[in-house]
Formats: sequence, C-alpha cells, structure tokens
Amino acid sequence: MSEQTGAGASSRHTPVLLQRCLDLLAPALAAPGAVMVDSTLGMGGHTEGVLRAFEHVRVVGIDRDPQALALASERLAPFGERFTPVHAVYDEIREVLDRLGIAEVQGVLMDLGVSSLQLDEAERGFAYAQDAPLDMRMDPTTGPTAADVLNTYDERDIARVLRVYGEERFAARIARGVVRRRAQAPLTRTSELVDIVRAGVPAATRRTGGHPAKRTFQALRIEVNGELAALERAVPASVEALAVGGRIVVESYQSLEDRIVKRALAVGATSSAPPDLPVEPATHAPYLRLLTRGAEEADADELARNPRSQSVRLRAAERLRPTPDHLRTPRRAA
Ligand SMILES: C[S@@+](CC[C@H](N)C(=O)[O-])C[C@H]1O[C@@H](n2cnc3c(N)ncnc32)[C@H](O)[C@@H]1O
Repeated sequence: MSEQTGAGASSRHTPVLLQRCLDLLAPALAAPGAVMVDSTLGMGGHTEGVLRAFEHVRVVGIDRDPQALALASERLAPFGERFTPVHAVYDEIREVLDRLGIAEVQGVLMDLGVSSLQLDEAERGFAYAQDAPLDMRMDPTTGPTAADVLNTYDERDIARVLRVYGEERFAARIARGVVRRRAQAPLTRTSELVDIVRAGVPAATRRTGGHPAKRTFQALRIEVNGELAALERAVPASVEALAVGGRIVVESYQSLEDRIVKRALAVGATSSAPPDLPVEPATHAPYLRLLTRGAEEADADELARNPRSQSVRLRAAERLRPTPDHLRTPRRAA
C-alpha cells in the first residue's frame, strides 16, 4: 500500500456538490453548538468544507474503512476537537452518538459508495482495470471478500447478485463461467474475473457501453459490503438522530441506492393517516419536509470540475417534528 499523507487526501478526492451540500445544511448548522455527522467521511473533503464554512460546528466523521479514517484524521487535525473520527458502519449512527454522549444532531451527510482512494489502491480489488486480489471490502478487517462470494455462492446466487446489484444482462452466463473456472481452482485475482466477464458478454455488446466488467464489479462490491441493507437501516436511523430543524443530505451514485433514499425520505414526508379519516391526527402528520424537488444532478460546471459527479443524485430533507412512536425504528440490541 502506498504511503499517503493527510495533504494527499485532499488532492485525491474532490467532494461532489460541496457548495450545494453546504447551502442545504446551512440553516441547521447555524445553531450554536451544532453537531453534524458525516456518515461517509472518506478523504474528509465534505467535512473539511463544513468545518471551514461553519466555525462553531463539530463534526463526527464515520467510516468503515480504517485507512480512510487515518488519512482524513491527519488532514483534519488542524480542527482539533471540532472533529471526531469513528470507525463504524453508518447504520450504527445511534450507537455511535450514544457512546459520545450526543442526544441529537443538527445535520447528517451521506456521500455513498467507494472513494477515489479505494478505487486507486489497486491492492484492494475494487478496480477492474488493475490486477489485484479479489477483496473489495471497504473494511478489510472483517467480513467475506469478493473471492469468498465467487468461490462459495451457488451459481444461481451469483447470477442473482450480478443481475440485481449490477443490472447485468448476461448475469447467468457470467455466473456459469465463474462456476466452471472455480471447478479447476478457486478464483483469487480480479484479472481472472475480468476474463470470465469478457468471455460471457457477446462481442457486439462488448463494443458498446464502457468496460464490460463494470457492472459485475459494482454488483460484487455491493454484495461484499452489504451496502444496500446498511443503507436501508441507515437513512431512517439518521433521520431519527436529527433534532427538530435538523437536515439530512444524501448523495447516491446508482439507481438502487437512490431508490432506497427516496423511499425512506418519502415515509417521513407523507402523512401516515389512513386515507378515509376526515381529520388528520397530529401523530400522523409528516415529520420531514423534502428540500429537493426529486433528485438533483450535477450541472455542467460541476461535471467539468469533477467527473465523479456524473451519476450523482442528491436528495435532502428537514425534520419538522419528532418521529411518531408508531413509525420509530426499534433500537438495536446492545
Ligand atoms: C464517496 S466516499 C466519501 C468521500 C467524502 N465525502 C470526501 O469528500 O472525501 C464514501 C466513503 O464512505 C465509506 N462507506 C461506504 N459505505 C459505508 C458504510 N456502510 N458505513 C461506513 N462507511 C461507509 C467508504 O469507505 C468511503 O470511504
């Protein structure tokens, strides 16, 4: 793994739609003593922007990747006690805040997916363009690797992962290729997987639509890291951590993530009263106000500055009142 410094962190990842995130969070972060959780700290780009823009705000930065935490902590050291790094999965936000003695927060920011650091570190196996071990864990200290998935799942499950998480049309053919190959020897390298994908995707398709292994790699990364299940839990848990007037901003990079975010925010922004009631009881009134009309995308300026913003979908909401008891998510067992 190459030597990286905190200063390196700032040049490796340009935060997507930073000014828009700051503008959306500003009314909530103006409160004295405001706390924001950056649930996807990464290289700390968004957090640095927040710490600079709002001089009294404290940021709790969560990441499941210890390397990202180390680099971002070095970068953000000048902010002293205004920044607290935490190694956790973002659906643990309530437990993280309890440990820090924080009852509620004024902002939550989520910038989903992998960071440029993770893609650039060839050895971590996220990139189809470089040969590396089939790992793909955002937290390399725990959990199954991409090799474990490919060598132990049955053919139907591999195909399901590729079809559902990668929207891969040739999922069944690629899964068959994996099972055939592993009958000779377990798969260990990303280059073997790329070869299998190339053989499974018809030549005419290979000539269009980018690298043929892109969808397969995305699907495996989502499976290895349980990304969608964590997100399904994290959005409601984050909304519940917000004080009244607090705001949440989420940036997604593919349709499955964006759909989860859209639905979770819609639950809070819609009356939960049965439609036939003549008067809406206060407990059923919406407890969120959507701050974006649909999902916002990057404009031409942002696209020119930051190619990562190409697929971004940004949604944001403000908490209007506490979550009614009948919609509260149960606390996880300690
Ligand atoms: C796109 S990057 C964030 C970049 C950051 N906003 C910046 O400006 O530098 C996403 C980060 O979220 C982390 N991450 C993804 N899923 C996570 C999860 N479920 N829990 C905690 N961290 C997660 C990844 O490890 C990665 O470092």
